[in-house]
Amino acid sequence: MADADQLRRETRELLEDLAALDRFGRDDSGGFTRLAWSQELLDSVHWAAGRMREAGLATEIDAAGNLIGRWEEGEGKAVVIGSHLDTVTAGGRFDGALGVLTGLEVVRRLRAEGFRPCRPIWVVAFMDEEGERFNSVMLGSRAFVGEDVPADEMERTDADRVRMGDAMRNWDREFSQISAAKRIQDVHCYVELHVELGPVLEAEGFDIGVVSEITGLIGLSATLRGVTNHAGTTPMVGRRDALVGAAEAITALRDSAVASATYMATVGSITTVPGGANAIPGACTFSIDLRATSDPGLQAARGSVNAILAQVCEAEGLTSTVTETYFLQPVPLDTQISDVLSRAAEREGLSYRRMSSGAGHDAMLLAPHVPAGMLFVPSVAGVGHAPEEFTADDDVARGAATLTSTIRELAS
Ligand code: HGY
Ligand code: MN
Ligand code: MN
Repeated sequence: MADADQLRRETRELLEDLAALDRFGRDDSGGFTRLAWSQELLDSVHWAAGRMREAGLATEIDAAGNLIGRWEEGEGKAVVIGSHLDTVTAGGRFDGALGVLTGLEVVRRLRAEGFRPCRPIWVVAFMDEEGERFNSVMLGSRAFVGEDVPADEMERTDADRVRMGDAMRNWDREFSQISAAKRIQDVHCYVELHVELGPVLEAEGFDIGVVSEITGLIGLSATLRGVTNHAGTTPMVGRRDALVGAAEAITALRDSAVASATYMATVGSITTVPGGANAIPGACTFSIDLRATSDPGLQAARGSVNAILAQVCEAEGLTSTVTETYFLQPVPLDTQISDVLSRAAEREGLSYRRMSSGAGHDAMLLAPHVPAGMLFVPSVAGVGHAPEEFTADDDVARGAATLTSTIRELAS
């Protein structure tokens, strides 16, 4: 195992890439906002493509906005290293970006040592992994594996009422062509490095996480409807206040998830109609994000949403509608790839543990089609999806060393 100073010297270029990426989408929260199909994301992708070409990769942005850098050496199907450059609003510096830039670093190191891969090696930045802007989670990797992207997704609008179909034109991409992005047939296996975005590795003092499974996710949009009325002339008793109903439902959902200990439930966004201070909200729409690492857990979560909404509507004289915006099954990752990752950590003299991921990742789209694995590096205080998201240079270095050793084995 190289000593810490040598590791840091070796990782200088990767750390410089991370610092260079800071100029794309940095907002006054100190976090980063590079939403799907935005100019900020496009600028970061063009920058990353330039860095890939400097490393000798052939680059393209495919029909779904995925950036693909290809080291066309050897023969047959490719070893793909991927993650994403898009972020949530005011997101962190490392979520996705570290995986893409470390993949690029791996190519630089392998080329520098004169390694000749037996098969092509690709580095991919998938479009819209986060899915925040249009509720289109993992759009790029869904298209990459050939999943049918329903036409209604093109009609989804962002907070400024921009349609996804129109936003794609910022990138000279047409939704109708998105199926051309299917490339899974050219892939031998997939590896993704990602920051843990959780507290386990730091709390238990491990250098590396080898991911055994990725949580399932269900995204819902719930709308409660009551009666809009005057805030001052309407008696308190008998109001049909959609926001009061939503407040009860959100708290009951939290309590239900805590009691179940088998699923997570989060409400991240909420809007009311008409939205003024002096009118009783006649309608309230809020997001519901459900997570569970088992299908029964996911189904229990989904069932609790229905039961809670029915109970609140009964109590408050409301009606409800729920639409599903995303559904991704829990996914086990490939044990052989996990073994390769574990051996690589051992070769680097690093401590590691097998663990599940509470965050979703592009790997969950590829795993049903090709052997796929993931490795985590620690997140300070387990923070993710926030400006405070941080991973120390030494952990960046250890991740790069482990991923390099992994890819050298997979491409030999
Ligand atoms: O939401 C997630 O789990 C991922 O960060 N997109
Ligand atoms: Mn994320
Ligand atoms: Mn991510």
